[in-house]
Amino acid sequence: MSEQKKFKRTLVTTALPYANGPVHIGHLAGVYVPADIYARYLRLKGQEVLLVGGSDEHGVPVTIRARKEGCTVQDVVDRYHNLIKKSFEDFGISFDVYSRTTSETHKKHASDFFKKLNDEGKFVELESEQYYDEEAKEFLTDRNIRGECPRCHAADAYGDQCEKCGSTLSPDELINPYNAVTGNKLVKRSTKHWYLPLDQYQGWLEQWILNEHKEWRSNVYGQCKSWLDTGLKPRAVTRDLNWGIPVPVEGAEGKVLYVWFDAPIGYISNTKELLPDTWETWWKDPETRMLHFIGKDNIVFHCIVFPAMLKAHGEYNLPDNVPSNEFLNLEGDKISTSRNWAVWLHEYLEQIPNKQDVLRYVLTANAPETKDNDFTWKDYQARNNNELVAIYGNFVNRATVLTHKYFEGKVPERHELTEGDKATLAEFAEVRKQVEALLDVFRFRDAQKEAMNLARIGNKYLADNEPWKLAKTDMARVETIMNICLQIAANLAIVFEPFLPFSSAKLRKMLAMGDADWNMLGSIDILPVGHAIEKPELLFDKIEDDVIDAQMKRLEDIKKANEAENYKPEPVAPEVDFETFEKVDIRVGKVLDCQKVPKADKLLQFKIDDGMGGRTIVSGIAKFYNPEDLIGKEVLFIANFAPRKLKGVESQGMILSAVDADGKLVVCGPTAEVKPGSKVS
Ligand code: MF3
Ligand code: ZN
Repeated sequence: MSEQKKFKRTLVTTALPYANGPVHIGHLAGVYVPADIYARYLRLKGQEVLLVGGSDEHGVPVTIRARKEGCTVQDVVDRYHNLIKKSFEDFGISFDVYSRTTSETHKKHASDFFKKLNDEGKFVELESEQYYDEEAKEFLTDRNIRGECPRCHAADAYGDQCEKCGSTLSPDELINPYNAVTGNKLVKRSTKHWYLPLDQYQGWLEQWILNEHKEWRSNVYGQCKSWLDTGLKPRAVTRDLNWGIPVPVEGAEGKVLYVWFDAPIGYISNTKELLPDTWETWWKDPETRMLHFIGKDNIVFHCIVFPAMLKAHGEYNLPDNVPSNEFLNLEGDKISTSRNWAVWLHEYLEQIPNKQDVLRYVLTANAPETKDNDFTWKDYQARNNNELVAIYGNFVNRATVLTHKYFEGKVPERHELTEGDKATLAEFAEVRKQVEALLDVFRFRDAQKEAMNLARIGNKYLADNEPWKLAKTDMARVETIMNICLQIAANLAIVFEPFLPFSSAKLRKMLAMGDADWNMLGSIDILPVGHAIEKPELLFDKIEDDVIDAQMKRLEDIKKANEAENYKPEPVAPEVDFETFEKVDIRVGKVLDCQKVPKADKLLQFKIDDGMGGRTIVSGIAKFYNPEDLIGKEVLFIANFAPRKLKGVESQGMILSAVDADGKLVVCGPTAEVKPGSKVS
């Protein structure tokens, strides 16, 4: 596309993750892997590119974490910044700079940015009534206010949202609001804040986005359109908080820049930190193209608020595109840091070492580019075993092993090509064009599929030509075939370099290839005749069931722990008097025999000694017990329960069970042995 020509260089930014917890697969899939693929791709093509990242260390989330852990906010951000930075390094995210919003460079730069806008009268100052804790002497942010939900009346909704019924709320709507941390009651107090009058940018934003950027992804464009259609309102860019960058204006004690004001400026500060002398080229030269990689909850800030800030400032470039992803779910549920429902990158590396590329591959294959998508461990295993191992790894392995077997590890000569060879090479020549066309429009998922297609072409070529059968009769032909296979392998190393950098490095080493060069992609003369390759090694290994089972078990345990934590016993049923209670005749019985009911996976059939000659009872607890384990036990049952037929067996009573938090049924019995038939009252 002409896009590429208009610009001399590309600045790629990635959303700055909050330093309030480790990073997980959702971060990687949504932002960092696609941004890394893109940056690597441009670098391989020889273009000038910068990949900028960093941690977002201000805002309320880090302060909440600190309170929870009983340490200082600085401790929290130090710990998580280092952990996050390390995770990104480990996964090969090729940042040119990964800094943090508590850096001196950033504090100064963000502060100056605010000051310039303030001096130029770009803000409006407004007084408003906010909730205040008189004892703690602090204004509260939405998240730190809790109270009764006005919709579902849950007791502990947040000032911005009720987690019980999912309603979006404002603190003013809460009934009896209180400080989430101290529990104190709150009062309203007047406070002044600085607002960016977004309404004044409405017309300009409509023109810039809706008319000039129709090529943005439809999810991004659609969200912008809906914000613009609703009409923009002034947004506060300061907060009453004691953690953040102080508002650089006299009389603003106790106020800091709103985290969403300072964080995106971090992209500029971090560039400046990396390139103190030339950073302006990356931010001010119109020949620099800027791309923001983000998740969908960040769209409004990157497409509307930050551009309005940049416009107000007047010296900086605007983003050219904002390739935002939707969300990645984990085994069908929304990923959640607070509920520990995530695969944490640092844990993944410990538990399944040296498999960064497998995760990168699976996350790209399931990238939530156009809609939310799901990560499952079964799919992870299947994609590794059936694609990376069976297609890519298998091809490379056969190509290198056969080269060692027939040619002592040296690239053989290519003789005259058959029609079949030519057809394969023609197909193969298409791959580059297709991968590029897809990468140029940020369709990483399909681009990776195309790259994998090259390995498929290789496998088919080997299967069609069966060099191992020709080895006795036509060695010249085997030479040609193996030469072509090795060239395909070398091409694979290049085409996968942006996607699977670790495996490409391994493959390049195996082929003794040196650095990858995208411009060689499509060539069948990458490896010269006579070139010696190294010993074959497996590029990928099969992932066995036990690895997957362990991960599934981990998630099950987390689910159980969450359920236990959220468990609230059912509300008590309406009152009954003694007479009503007495109508139910509960007795003790001894289990004489217990068996599964045929063709009914939930039912167990009991033979009970009830002290009155015995009876049969059918109970729906088969999922929770081995029948043999219940034989000889004493249980409680309702003796005057109307008989009924279950799967053809008449049940004369009902065995009493308790329902545990996770829905498990536990049979009830007396705590010491009593005579069968004893009454319970
Ligand atoms: N910390 C924010 C989040 O995780 C993202 C900030 S992006 C930046 O949602 F542009 F503000 F840096
Ligand atoms: Zn509610």
